[in-house]
Amino acid sequence: MNKSYFIETYGCQMNVADSELISGLLSSEGYNKTSDIHAADIIFVNTCAIREHAEDKVHSRLGFYNQLKQKKPETIIGILGCMAQNLKEDILESKPFVDIILGPDSYRKLPEMINNRSNKIDHIVDTKLSRYEVYDNLFPSRNEGINAWISIMRGCDKFCTFCIVPFTRGRERSRSIDSIVSEAVQAVSDGFHEITLLGQNVNSYNHQGQKFHELLDEVAQINGLKRIRYTSPHPQDMTQEVLDVMRKHQKICNYVHLPLQAGNDRILKRMNRTYKKLEFISLVKRIRETLPNVGLSTDIIVGFPGESKIEFNDTLDVMEKVHFDSAYTFKYSSRPGTKASEFEDLVAEDEKQSRLEMVIEMQKKHTLSQNKKRVGSIEMILVEKESKRSTNHWAGRTDSNRWVIFEKNNSQIGDLVSVKITNAKGITLHGENINTKKMEAA
Ligand code: 5AD
Ligand code: SF4
Repeated sequence: MNKSYFIETYGCQMNVADSELISGLLSSEGYNKTSDIHAADIIFVNTCAIREHAEDKVHSRLGFYNQLKQKKPETIIGILGCMAQNLKEDILESKPFVDIILGPDSYRKLPEMINNRSNKIDHIVDTKLSRYEVYDNLFPSRNEGINAWISIMRGCDKFCTFCIVPFTRGRERSRSIDSIVSEAVQAVSDGFHEITLLGQNVNSYNHQGQKFHELLDEVAQINGLKRIRYTSPHPQDMTQEVLDVMRKHQKICNYVHLPLQAGNDRILKRMNRTYKKLEFISLVKRIRETLPNVGLSTDIIVGFPGESKIEFNDTLDVMEKVHFDSAYTFKYSSRPGTKASEFEDLVAEDEKQSRLEMVIEMQKKHTLSQNKKRVGSIEMILVEKESKRSTNHWAGRTDSNRWVIFEKNNSQIGDLVSVKITNAKGITLHGENINTKKMEAA
């Protein structure tokens, strides 16, 4: 009988997309996916190393896998992704029950490695990073839903001093436009309504001189595709061409995730972020001029080494000036191997915590005030799932990425529906389903 595997994913959307690639690869080799970890012959965990907290979660999961293996010793356990890349020695030494350790550029070897391990060959480790691997011509086995993740580039060359990604995922490399478009066409014919183009640094996409805006323009021509999103861009590569192509195509969502990280020039320089406070603010102005009503979100790190209270106030000041629609907020977490991990002027834990709370508090107010501005407007919502609140309501997003709850009427998942926004509560909008319009893709 064919072996079954269970795969669990932590971390970013890139990891979700990578797990879908791995599932596609294993299914094509005859392995069966199971959602029952106790029944699985092989257990994989696709890991994230971006913050200590992400690693801690995986470590505690590994304890559980060890118990399962004690009950069923023939179970194969594999650690994949960024932690595998980063912590292979540590894992080999302290977690002898782990059979396979594979970094993000080695997934093609998975079937061969399962085979070898089944034949009791010693622990199998491959964490070589590649300058070329983009997993072209592998077919992902996608999770259900309306959105298909498509990875367009891998790795990162920015080397922000706090970030482990350039070390775990290696150098930047991009797929060809042709292969991305044909994967997107396939996703549409498989029934997906939206695609999200993924990369550690999507807008530094460069395939033989072809740039991100050219890719967006091509993908927007695909018939039947309702929406296109992308994440995550870097402020440095947010060219006017990208904004213009977003304005040109209605199906490219009016939403930009623009990671700020910090608002103070000295801290930004120490982070190697390549822009200054005022440059970031004028970039936001340019984005809003080109794309009225654009949804804007950000990433913020508080308590980077050496950040004084006064310097932290610059982060709050940028937030006040910009009014982001939402923010992902983090306390700085030291990542061994990065430049910032060598800095010694650490900010105390309680100070980081109180700064985090200030940022979260301010963002809550901004999210609500930004959402309130939408009350009275009519938005096109792509129906995504049933609302947790009631079985008569759908939840879906505006193209500017705001969640809206509204009555189902006769609409179905995957429909584009006109909704009049009637109320803004917390982070969610509520609306009235005006008509159910099965919009032919424009
Ligand atoms: N500590 C805290 N946050 C971090 N991020 C990346 N590295 C770290 C770190 N060492 C955050 C950044 C990035 C997001 C994906 O994770 O804000 O944009
Ligand atoms: Fe990390 Fe900076 Fe690259 Fe983003 S741009 S993945 S934060 S190094």
